[in-house]
Amino acid sequence: MDPVPTTVPALVTGASSGIGEHFAVALAERGHALTLVARRRDRLDSLARRLRREHQVKVAVLVADLETEAGREAVAARLEARGPWILVNNAGFGTRGAFVESMPGVSRQSWRSMSSPSTASCERSCRGMSPRAPAG
Ligand SMILES: NC(=O)c1ccc[n+]([C@@H]2O[C@H](COP(=O)([O-])OP(=O)(O)OC[C@H]3O[C@@H](n4cnc5c(N)ncnc54)[C@H](OP(=O)(O)O)[C@@H]3O)[C@@H](O)[C@H]2O)c1
Repeated sequence: MDPVPTTVPALVTGASSGIGEHFAVALAERGHALTLVARRRDRLDSLARRLRREHQVKVAVLVADLETEAGREAVAARLEARGPWILVNNAGFGTRGAFVESMPGVSRQSWRSMSSPSTASCERSCRGMSPRAPAG
C-alpha cells in the first residue's frame, strides 16, 4: 500500500498521552501536519511545541471532551472544514489484567467514557468524511 502523502494532515484523538501521543510523534516524523485532540490543554500545548520544534510541522490543538456532544461536534467540524484527513480515533483508557478483575475499580461512568469517545466520535466524524472518500 502506498504511504499517505504528507500533504494529508492527521487528526489524533487522545494525543495527550500514551498511544495517541506516540501516533502523533510518528506522524510528525513523517511530515504530516497535525491536529491534537484531548481534554488536557497543558499536555497538548507542550506536545505541539515539541513537534513544531523537532519536526517543523504545523500543529493545531483542539481541546475537546469526546464524551460530550459539543466535543464530538467540534472534532467533526474540524474534519469537515477540509479533507481528506488521516483520523487516528484513539481517545479512551485502558485497564490492566482480566476484564472482570478490573471492573470493581472502575466506575460505570468511566466505562462509558472508555467506549463513548471512540465509537460515538468515530460515527460522527466518519459520517462527514465518507462522501469525500475516494471511490473504490
Ligand atoms: N494500553 C493498552 O494496552 C491498550 C490496549 C488496547 C486498547 N487500548 C486503547 O487505546 C487507547 C489509548 O490507550 P492508552 O493506553 O494510550 O491510554 P492513555 O495513556 O490513558 O491515553 C488516553 C488518551 O485518551 C484521552 N481521552 C480519554 N477520555 C477522553 C475524552 N472523554 N475526551 C477526549 N480525550 C479523552 C486522554 O486525554 P485527556 O485525559 O487529556 O482527555 C489521553 O490522551 C484507548 O482507547 C484504549 O482503550 C489500549
